[in-house]
Amino acid sequence: MVLKVSNASNVREVIRYYRQPGSRLGYRLFLNGTKHFGFYRSTDSPWAWSKALRRMEDRMGETLAQPAGARVLDAGCGVGDVAGRLAGRFGLRVHGVDLLDAHVAQARRRARRRNLDHLLTFSHSDYAALDFPDESFDAVYTMETLVHAADAEAVLKQFHRVLRPGGRLVMFEYAREAATRMPTPAADMFRQLNDWAAMPSFQRFTYGTLERLTAEAGFSVRGVEDISRGMWPMLRCFAVIGTLPGAGFRAARLRRHSVNTLSAVEFWRHRAFWRYEIHTADKVRTAGS
Ligand SMILES: C[S@@+](CC[C@H](N)C(=O)[O-])C[C@H]1O[C@@H](n2cnc3c(N)ncnc32)[C@H](O)[C@@H]1O
Repeated sequence: MVLKVSNASNVREVIRYYRQPGSRLGYRLFLNGTKHFGFYRSTDSPWAWSKALRRMEDRMGETLAQPAGARVLDAGCGVGDVAGRLAGRFGLRVHGVDLLDAHVAQARRRARRRNLDHLLTFSHSDYAALDFPDESFDAVYTMETLVHAADAEAVLKQFHRVLRPGGRLVMFEYAREAATRMPTPAADMFRQLNDWAAMPSFQRFTYGTLERLTAEAGFSVRGVEDISRGMWPMLRCFAVIGTLPGAGFRAARLRRHSVNTLSAVEFWRHRAFWRYEIHTADKVRTAGS
């Protein structure tokens, strides 16, 4: 099937990044294919990854705050584990879209395996060029994917269009310090890794930017919460695991092909200059809507 994509697009780069053997192997080996960070309580072992992943997904469900049966769009669903948790635990009817056909196929398999396919549907699409009619969803969410967008304004416009008036948008996304307010090695690291990992919007999302764009797209911003410290234990584990191979890749001049390993090490080293944020916003009701 031909994928309908938006005009301003880096779709090819995103697909290439997720198809890299290093990327596929890393996510598969460490997180069983899930592609987001975990959230920890202070008493948790940093190595209890699965528990932390599910807790982060529960935070999504709690922030969406929808009744069972609500129609929800997962933009950039990956292999569908977030959608699976939201259906299984919160009773939401989730439709996930993703650029990679392999992710969509895996998401469908996992839904069937969990006996949740009555609540879960998936399609191979670009969230910047959605086919759904206006006001199709009660809520929309992104989990660590909007950073890939080539045109975040266009994506937010799509989310606004497909949400019903009063509907909720929740985005778990990264934001960073302005380049002028960090040391040169940190600024260089962001520029390089955001390029290699096809994350132009992370390069652009300095503190406050996503909040401003969300408001400009017509949403009422309810809040932005910095939960970085709750995810640091997992990032630190990845940095510890990646330190030795990262040095090897560097020495062998294979940096570009080991972007996940390098990201773990470098994003941990420079953690003072970026945040993991939860953005919550509602589509404003207009008179008569
Ligand atoms: C870091 S992964 C997160 C996956 C999933 N949300 C999770 O938490 O496991 C980012 C995902 O967004 C998808 N993605 C990136 N840009 C997209 C776009 N324009 N449309 C649909 N999916 C996109 C990627 O294919 C990838 O599966």
